[in-house]
Amino acid sequence: MAVITVHDVYKIFGRRPRRGVDALKRGATRADLREDGLTAAVIDASFEVEAGEIFVVMGLSGSGKSTLIRVINNLHAPTSGHVEIGGVNVTTASGDALRTLRRERISMVFQHFALLPHRTVGENAAYALEVQGVSRSEREDRAERALEMVDLGGWGGAMPDQLSGGMRQRVGLARALAADTDILLMDEAFSALDPLIRRGMQEQLSSCRTGSTRRSCSSPTTSTRRCGSVTGSR
Ligand SMILES: Nc1ncnc2c1ncn2[C@@H]1O[C@H](COP(=O)(O)OP(=O)(O)OP(=O)(O)O)[C@@H](O)[C@H]1O
Ligand SMILES: [Mg+2]
Repeated sequence: MAVITVHDVYKIFGRRPRRGVDALKRGATRADLREDGLTAAVIDASFEVEAGEIFVVMGLSGSGKSTLIRVINNLHAPTSGHVEIGGVNVTTASGDALRTLRRERISMVFQHFALLPHRTVGENAAYALEVQGVSRSEREDRAERALEMVDLGGWGGAMPDQLSGGMRQRVGLARALAADTDILLMDEAFSALDPLIRRGMQEQLSSCRTGSTRRSCSSPTTSTRRCGSVTGSR
């Protein structure tokens, strides 16, 4: 059964974006919308992600990958269409239901790390657990194990600005791994890593998938294009 279902999603940025959806359905192009002051980031995306599946969204820079992934957990509300997670309509869910879903089922690794600058690396890695209400000793333990998984064992006491870009990206990954949710959304989670470390992290993640917890991952990358239909390059 599908864990994530995306139904006919459009995301248009600009004033009165709904008119952009109508125009696209009548055959207008992205360029036509731009002339009207609208940006068509996601055009008519529909797909399902099964439990345990690694689902990758590919497309050129600016084609809408980050926007699409943010629509999945409703950080961006779609202009049209909707998303279901485990049968719950995320698009129409109440604030409480959405917070519970994000806290308990979904982790996200952001393209630009999004670390809290005034908290230590360990506190950043443990952040999702703090939000989940996990006790201090357990979250310190789980955060340290997650940091070890991304080769940052012993760095828990450092501050984010003492780390390189690739190390900071791995803290973001550790934060998601520590949360141990069944859905992991990753927005170019490996982009700042050198090829050798990237390979190690990807293997690490594959082994998580076959371990006790199964995750559905969506990992946009700019390296190839495939999803003209997903992000709409009309
Ligand atoms: N908050 C926003 N407000 C207005 N326009 C936005 C916003 N976020 C994204 N866009 C626009 O939507 C389009 C898609 O952006 P998005 O960040 O989703 O692309 P991307 O595929 O992730 O690109 P990259 O590979 O460079 O990360 C771009 O034209 C961008 O300018
Ligand atoms: Mg992006």
